[in-house]
Amino acid sequence: MSSAAISFCRQHNVRFLDELKNFLRIPSISTLPEHAADCRKAADFIATELRRIGMENVRLIETTGHPLVYADWLHATGKHTALIYGHYDVQPTDPIDEWISPPFEPTERNGNIYARGAVDDKGQVWAQIKSLEALFATGGGLPVNVRCIFEGEEEVGGEGIADYVASKPPELKADFALVSDTELFAPNLPTLCVGLRGMIYTELEVRGAKTDLHSGVYGGAAPNPFFSLAQILAKLKDENGHILIPGFYDGIIPPSPEELKAWASLPFDEEQYRLHEVGSTQLVGEAGYSVLERTWARPTLDVHGMPGGFIGAGAKTVIPAKAMAKVSMRLVPGMTPQKTYELYANYVRKIAPAGVEVETRLIHQGDACLVTVNNPYIQAATHALFEVWGKETVFIRSGGSIPIVGDFDKHLGLPSVMMGFGLPDDNIHAPNEKFHLKNFQLGIESLVRFFEEVANIK
Ligand code: BES
Ligand code: MN
Ligand code: MN
Repeated sequence: MSSAAISFCRQHNVRFLDELKNFLRIPSISTLPEHAADCRKAADFIATELRRIGMENVRLIETTGHPLVYADWLHATGKHTALIYGHYDVQPTDPIDEWISPPFEPTERNGNIYARGAVDDKGQVWAQIKSLEALFATGGGLPVNVRCIFEGEEEVGGEGIADYVASKPPELKADFALVSDTELFAPNLPTLCVGLRGMIYTELEVRGAKTDLHSGVYGGAAPNPFFSLAQILAKLKDENGHILIPGFYDGIIPPSPEELKAWASLPFDEEQYRLHEVGSTQLVGEAGYSVLERTWARPTLDVHGMPGGFIGAGAKTVIPAKAMAKVSMRLVPGMTPQKTYELYANYVRKIAPAGVEVETRLIHQGDACLVTVNNPYIQAATHALFEVWGKETVFIRSGGSIPIVGDFDKHLGLPSVMMGFGLPDDNIHAPNEKFHLKNFQLGIESLVRFFEEVANIK
């Protein structure tokens, strides 16, 4: 394997990394309103680069939230068209004290680049753009037709891109989508992700008294919404990890025996995973399912935070008027966000203790998805990965969610190739997020080879 574009990537790898660092310095945290201008700055940063490397029709598309970035290059007559997707927004940085180097001052340490968004997903977006640059610079154009759509609200489940995709704009006419926002199953093991969980993210609010009350004066008579909330939460899932919402599991489509067999032969050491990735004394979850099944193919229910009441230092004797929990559920094929939310909301209303009012709110939602693997794009991807990594590709699912992948299928009929280069220990959404530099480099090379392979598809 020695295409000119690959040599270009190797020659320019220092510059590529320097540019990525500049991209990473923009704190494009989509969930925090005070960073809205930074999100736009990150969008502009990508747009400027897409123009520079030779992409055409580059523009920001406004949405109800942060803008989309669009670009295309459609002069590969008779060749297939790729729709390249990634996201420029990042997660918040808390707990900030646990970062070894500041989240928006990208720092190299032991073969990694550390920064918020290093791998999720700015580093991978940059790898996509750099692969295009290498092809332009050495081929005078691209070997295939390419459209790019980058969004800035992936981490908040924003509807901007979903609305755009649902409107089936001519700008998104393509043969397949290339999504780089996933990870390798293990270091040096080329991987394609073929399934994602969906999700619903909700708020559950419990209200008791009309105002906060002195807990000595009123304790014993006034309802405590935190206690009621705890009682509700305790009835959502039992101690075996079984979710108690009636009808919750109805209609689930389990993985095929072949898929389960393939998962069983993946190099997975449960004890290593417990100790080094999770770091808890024990793993939990439904009996009778492996860890991979539990995280890839079974639904879950989690609590993310419980805002309300007194959380300052020291003590305050108060019965808060209200309490809240942020509750999400991960969904698998066969479940729908709407139906799951209804089952949950009805059940919560039913089990609400006396003396409090409960309200549930749906914050965002996304479908689970499975991609088809018997298409020429997946084949091109495995060929490319074999050339760069020297190994056969493994097919995995991921427990995470990328809501737009389901929409590409549903509204545009596009199969997705989920080719991502993160590692399981990259600390996504956590302190000290990193991108392994070798994966950045080989990721770019894999994408170059992939586009060259797609050019060979009849
Ligand atoms: N890139 C992740 C999803 C992911 C992580 C896929 C690891 C495969 C492997 C994505 O940025 C993400 O975090 N998605 C959110 C979506 C949600 C906010 C709608 C998630 O999964 O929580
Ligand atoms: Mn991501
Ligand atoms: Mn993410």
